[in-house]
Amino acid sequence: MPKTTPELPQVARYKPYYHELEMGKTYLWCSCGLSQQQPFCDGSHQGTGFEPVRYAAKEPHQEVLFCGCKHSADKPFCDGAHNDLKADYDEDDPNSPENLAIPIVAAGADGRALLNGGCYVSKVERIPLQEHGNLRLGPVISATTGALYQSQFYAEVGSGESPVTHFGDRHTIALVTQGRGQITISGRVFPISPHMGVYVRPGEAFSINNPDTLAINLFLAVCPQAEQAEFLPQMPTGFETDYPERTVGVDPEQRQTMADRFFQILVDKCIGSNVVTQFIGDVPKSKAAMHRHLYEESIVILKGSGFMWTEDLKTPVATGDVIFLPRKQIHSLECTDPDGMMLAGVIYPGDNPAINY
Ligand code: FES
Repeated sequence: MPKTTPELPQVARYKPYYHELEMGKTYLWCSCGLSQQQPFCDGSHQGTGFEPVRYAAKEPHQEVLFCGCKHSADKPFCDGAHNDLKADYDEDDPNSPENLAIPIVAAGADGRALLNGGCYVSKVERIPLQEHGNLRLGPVISATTGALYQSQFYAEVGSGESPVTHFGDRHTIALVTQGRGQITISGRVFPISPHMGVYVRPGEAFSINNPDTLAINLFLAVCPQAEQAEFLPQMPTGFETDYPERTVGVDPEQRQTMADRFFQILVDKCIGSNVVTQFIGDVPKSKAAMHRHLYEESIVILKGSGFMWTEDLKTPVATGDVIFLPRKQIHSLECTDPDGMMLAGVIYPGDNPAINY
């Protein structure tokens, strides 16, 4: 029997255990890592100094990820700490005979390459954009294309002030991919520049001022999902002053490691977005082992190229593409670029992009 100490639990496995909990039932999560009935306690902790953690379901059919590595700071749940217990992220060989046999899917007439389980990669340049003054706007992810939680729009803003745009009582999280200017959010003005995340609270509206001839391009994630934007005759007041910070730029000091990968949270609860999280990250040339998440995710490829894999299909991805990933869909995003891949994602509902299973 392996030994453990109160300072050092045994790793049962380097990823969490998915469970759907029964309402009214109490679960005893193994904290020492020695139980033979993972992730639950079988009494093996006796004499180790560890005690099991008790948890009762908070809602019917509550889905949880119980920590398997026993190093989470959010016990009994996974907080992504398992990614940092090894120097390398778990990888898979894209050139294995099984992987080479997986067919490559091409994008259809609508610009989407359809993978398993409703996952797809969208060639954004093929999305039809509608003109509203100097704003060109089109849906990339929506209920029509299978999303349950979030929608995403691609926007190009020409010179001048865009129409006042409103997504009702929803959170809007923007990612600027090109251009510099200002965004006005319900009367409050903020400078914007590439790779900046912007948060617009439910009920607020926004417009974008482009002082240049180069378009300002953005992706707009809207949660819960909206089929279309509303355009208001004038900018409303009512900026929520309890949340004064609304833009977050890339800051190397804020980068978090995930084995050999990096990510930085842009928009999250730190600036008031409690249920939607936006991040930006770097992926080295590699193919991550297949894994899942409990949140629905949209990913914009900002730089680099590779393949998006699901269980028995794969498709190329390149700079500017958007990936839609349903909850619990098994997948891997491979980077084939020696210089690595840069991406930005929005997860909803969720607050930690490092949690995978
Ligand atoms: S399995 Fe322990 S933190 Fe994820």
